Order: sequence, then structure tokens, then C-alpha cells
Amino acid sequence: MISRIRGMNDILPPDSILWNRIEAAFRRTVARYGFYEVKTPILEETALFTRSIGDATEIVEKEMYTFEDKGGHSLTLRPEGTASMVRAYIENPETDGDSIARWFYFGPMYRYERPQKGRYREFYQFGAEAFGVAAPEQDAEMMAMAVHFLNEIGIKDVTLKINSLGDNSDRQAYKEKLLEHLRGRESELCEDCKRRMTTNPLRVLDCKQENCIAVAAGAPLIIDSLGPEAGAHFEKVKHTLDGLGIKYVVDPHIVRGLDYYNRSAFEFITENLGAQKAVGGGGRYDALVEQLGGPSTPAVGFAMGVERLIALLKDQGAQSLPSLDFFVIPMGEAAQEYSMKLGARLRSEGLSGEIDCSGRRLKNLFKRAERIGARYTIIIGDQELAEGAANVKNMESKEQQRIALDDIGRSTLK
Ligand code: HAM
Repeated sequence: MISRIRGMNDILPPDSILWNRIEAAFRRTVARYGFYEVKTPILEETALFTRSIGDATEIVEKEMYTFEDKGGHSLTLRPEGTASMVRAYIENPETDGDSIARWFYFGPMYRYERPQKGRYREFYQFGAEAFGVAAPEQDAEMMAMAVHFLNEIGIKDVTLKINSLGDNSDRQAYKEKLLEHLRGRESELCEDCKRRMTTNPLRVLDCKQENCIAVAAGAPLIIDSLGPEAGAHFEKVKHTLDGLGIKYVVDPHIVRGLDYYNRSAFEFITENLGAQKAVGGGGRYDALVEQLGGPSTPAVGFAMGVERLIALLKDQGAQSLPSLDFFVIPMGEAAQEYSMKLGARLRSEGLSGEIDCSGRRLKNLFKRAERIGARYTIIIGDQELAEGAANVKNMESKEQQRIALDDIGRSTLK
């Protein structure tokens, strides 16, 4: 038997029902903010991710699915969506001189992480990116849109945590302070982090090793190194969120696992998912478009993970049972033929249901009617056919009624 690849999942009903609900709620929400969908290839040139996410990040160092194609090109299964959006933004010739673009995406991402609950090697993200606006109101709007979505889908107990990572110059100054702290405790760091002290010391703050977490906990905070401009930006983001009634917590320990951020960084955190606490995250990345070869363009965005949202919804007791309007049980050849036509008529009226063609025993068929969530079961034998009426059972109240065949439809299957 061939099994699925470790860390990759089949999405089966009833989970797929919750999945569709999440996707529909996200699409509904972003449409209200004027965001449009962009679909990009799942495979990209490896350099796109190494140059954007950053060489010293966990994602690039350890988690990418990278391989050579038959032409010898190094390709990578995308570990996230932002880099591809930026590439598409730069390559898109049809902007008419307008640098503003409001895009969203939905699709599979790949990270070679150690699989556990809420952490997979193939997972689905949806996200939104706003290009071309540097103002703090844009950061706040993105966070508000994400909160709006969480409310729309009915997710509770998720906290929006925000921080500022400052501007490039602020981070240079901060790096010095951080290095001073790290040098004092270098022997406690993992080998990767010892190396990161020279490649990118900020990444030590994001390491998942216990010892490194302890060292990071005592480190100076980047928020204490903000210059006046980044500081004012952060104040305005908070002020705008306050004005919109969006609740948040300032968490100076948020650094994000990707290198491209500056100024706002935020995460949606839950305590209900075990070790995987982030259901979403994002931030501002004003340098990335230019860094990847485009014109200097500010941008801010976020992404959320579908699997973690499904787990949260299930944890909250969300119902994801299938439901159909009818299940027809024909008994006999003529009844079968009639039932196929009855099904066609009911579906043309907008009802949904299943016609049994298996001819299994009645007891089994009633079990199936329950499994598929049929509201009504319609039993038609050759005798019923001759009499022009069928037994219709309301599966909830268990009441059975005899209804003329021609009357079975929207008005009777209420
Ligand atoms: P991220 O924080 O790496 O950000 O991922 C966003 C979300 O994807 C996480 O909060 C989590 O829900 C989900 N996720 C990440 N890894 C896994 C995994 N292995 N298994 C299941 N779910 C996972 C980004 O990817 C940025 N591109 C977000 C962004 C958009 N920043 C600006 N624009």
C-alpha cells in the first residue's frame, strides 16, 4: 500500500466542510475591503525565498523543499506566499502607473518541519498583501481585516499581539545591544545560534531551542530602540486600532520568523492549540519589493493557516456535519427509474440530495440517511408508484407522512 507523505494530509469530510466555510468567510471578508485574488505557481526559483525570507532563518536553513529540475535549475516548493506575491507584483506590467495593489491568495505551502498537531509539511495559508501605502492606517486596516475575518468565522479566544521592529537603522543599533547580551551568554546557545550571532543575531530571538529561548527572554527589546519615525508610526497604528475598537496586546517579544519585516509585526495567538500558538501573522515589509528588483514600494500583509483554524473551530465545538435535503430509497425497478427523475426535479428546484442506487437493506439505508444528514427520507416502492404517493419521513421529528409524488418538492420538504 502506498501511504501519504509524512506531514501531509488528506482533507476529508467533515473537515472539508469547515475548510470551505473558512475559505468562504475569508473571501467574503476581503471582498468588503476591495482585495482581489492572485494565483501564483507553487514552484518558484529557490533564490526568491533565500533572498526574501533570509538565509539565516529556520525556514531557509532547514525547512525548504528544494530540488533541481531536469534542466539543472534550483526550484523550491513555496514555504509562504508573500515572496511570490512580491515577485508577481514586480512582474505585473498592468498597473497603469498605480503602485497600489490590494491582493489576496489561498493555497498550499510547504515546510519541512517536524510534524505535530497543527504543524504540517504541507499546509494551507490564505493571506492578503497591500502594496504601495506606507501610512500606519494601512497596517491597522490589515489587522482589522484579519480580526473581521476571525469574527466572521466565529473564532474566539485569539489575541492580536503587535510589536514594532523599527526601521533598518534602528535595527542596526539594536543589533549591537543584542550582541552584547548574547556574547555574555554565548555558551548557552545552540550551534545554529552561535553561527547566527555573526550571520543575523536577530534570528536568535526566534530560535525554538529551550536554552536559546531562555537567553532570548533576557535580551534587550527592539521596541526600546525605535527611532522617532518608527516610534510615531507605531503610536499611530495603535491609535487607529483603538479608534476601530480592535483589541490588541503589545508584545515586545514578537520578532517573526522571516527577515523581511520592518516596523509593524503582529501575530494572532491562541492558547488552545498546544505548542502551535500562532494562527496567523504578518507585518510591514517596506524594503522587500526593491530588494527583489522592483521599484521602492512599501507593503504590509498577513497570512493565516487553515489547519490551525479548523482545529480551533473543532475545539470550540463547531458543527461540521454534512446536511442534505433528501435521501430517496427506491424499492423495485420501476421505483428506481422514477426516483432518478424525481431527484432531477428536486435538484432543479434547488434542493440537494442523494438517490440510493445500491439496493441495500432498508436498515442500512436509514443509517446512510443519517450519516449524510438527510432531512427527509423518501421511500418509494412499486406500490407507492402505482398509488402516486410516497412515504416521506422527517428525520428529525421521526414523523412519517404520505405525500402525493407530484407534491414532493420545496414546499413539502421544508
Ligand atoms: P508565518 O507566520 O510564517 O507568516 O505563517 C503564517 C501562518 O501560517 C502561521 O500563523 C500558521 O497559522 C500557518 N503555518 C505556518 N507554518 C505552518 C505549518 N508548518 N503547519 C501548519 N500551519 C502553518 C508568513 O508566512 C508570512 N508570509 C505572513 C505575511 C504575509 N507577512 C506579510 N504578509
